[in-house]
Amino acid sequence: MHNEFSRVGLVGQWQRQASSHVPIQSPASRIPDDIRCARDYEIAAQRFMAESVYAYIHGGSALDQTSTANPRAFGRWTVCPRLLGDIRQSDTRVQLPGAMLDHPVLLAPVAYQNLAHPEGEIAVARAAAATGSAQILSTLSSFSLEDVAQSAPARRWFQLYLQPDRSASLDLIRRAETAGYKAIMLTLDATLQIPSARAQATGFTLPAACVAANLQQYGRPDAVAGGTALRRDVIGGLLRHVPCWSDLDAVLAHTQLPVWVKGVMHPDDARALQGRGVAGVVVSNHGGRALDGAPAALQMLPLIRSAVGAQYPILFDSGIRSGTDVFKAIALGADAVMIGRAQMYALSVAGALGVAHLLTLLREELAVCMAHAGCRSLADLRSATLIRNGASEVRDECASC
Ligand SMILES: Cc1cc2nc3c(=O)[nH]c(=O)nc-3n(C[C@H](O)[C@H](O)[C@H](O)COP(=O)(O)O)c2cc1C
Repeated sequence: MHNEFSRVGLVGQWQRQASSHVPIQSPASRIPDDIRCARDYEIAAQRFMAESVYAYIHGGSALDQTSTANPRAFGRWTVCPRLLGDIRQSDTRVQLPGAMLDHPVLLAPVAYQNLAHPEGEIAVARAAAATGSAQILSTLSSFSLEDVAQSAPARRWFQLYLQPDRSASLDLIRRAETAGYKAIMLTLDATLQIPSARAQATGFTLPAACVAANLQQYGRPDAVAGGTALRRDVIGGLLRHVPCWSDLDAVLAHTQLPVWVKGVMHPDDARALQGRGVAGVVVSNHGGRALDGAPAALQMLPLIRSAVGAQYPILFDSGIRSGTDVFKAIALGADAVMIGRAQMYALSVAGALGVAHLLTLLREELAVCMAHAGCRSLADLRSATLIRNGASEVRDECASC
């Protein structure tokens, strides 16, 4: 299935219409003076996006409970400084199935990036290439996977939403392989999405320019009309397309590329995926855009790490806003992290330059935090001392956060 509201199917209110999402300011050709840390992009983006577009990107699903809980979960942990460590040769490199990276911040798959900037995914590819990051291109990208691949020599993976026509899914994998993508990230958590009530209140509609370029050749996606039809359609039709284990097996059998599964929140699911031959899991609740009321993703991370063992690759996203957040996620069990909304904010402010600058800031913030914590490499983060706020416990004594 395809998602993020190209399957307007589930969310009739978000049907595609010609509408004016006129930004307040055009993208800047230099970094604005008020951007001093990664988080500043979230504030600045409000000048560069129309209110409805900002609300759509910023929002989660339904009442925004989980999207709000995600960043807050990081505030429940603090990093204890250490003294006199030899940190002169600090190193943020990380080896993952599908990429060796200079630093552990990847660009999460985000649909329709031309909502934020006319160059959309192509600008993100340039930023990834310039900063040694990796781009995970959404099935629902506004430029085709082939065009993005030709635009910059970035490390890139392809994110797959299973399509109602499963042969289209397999064809997408084949196209990604041919175009040089180095891993497949299969997103399984967002089969059903209810848009945020706050974003709906602003009257957001997907502009006509936002089309899923990769899917054009497979015919028109299912469209189901009307919010009131939601329940009937979910029960009567759309759940027919919900992926199951045999779909995962078909993907695994179809490609030699490493296959990651994104949207893992339960330790038992992580263990089952590990046993099935999945290369790694992405602990994520889709940035709070899937099940509203799900726990913060950070809360589940230590439990999933302990379920799959120390060596199994884990990526994390949902709530990362600073380099210190990156530190905490890695200290709590991730090998590397992805950023979703933050890249859209930076993209809207200054295109490729903004995203490259954001990645540089995150990397610097991470390096500063590592230095204070006495960590020389990402491997050291696993033994860093994290303190849970409101309790005098260190991380190792906590069953979860
Ligand atoms: C506007 C928007 C569109 C998204 N589109 C996709 C998508 O096409 N595929 C996907 O797997 N995840 C998608 N996601 C989820 C992100 O990959 C990621 O899981 C999430 O944004 C992480 O949370 P963060 O925004 O707090 O960093 C989208 C998220 C946003 C905000």
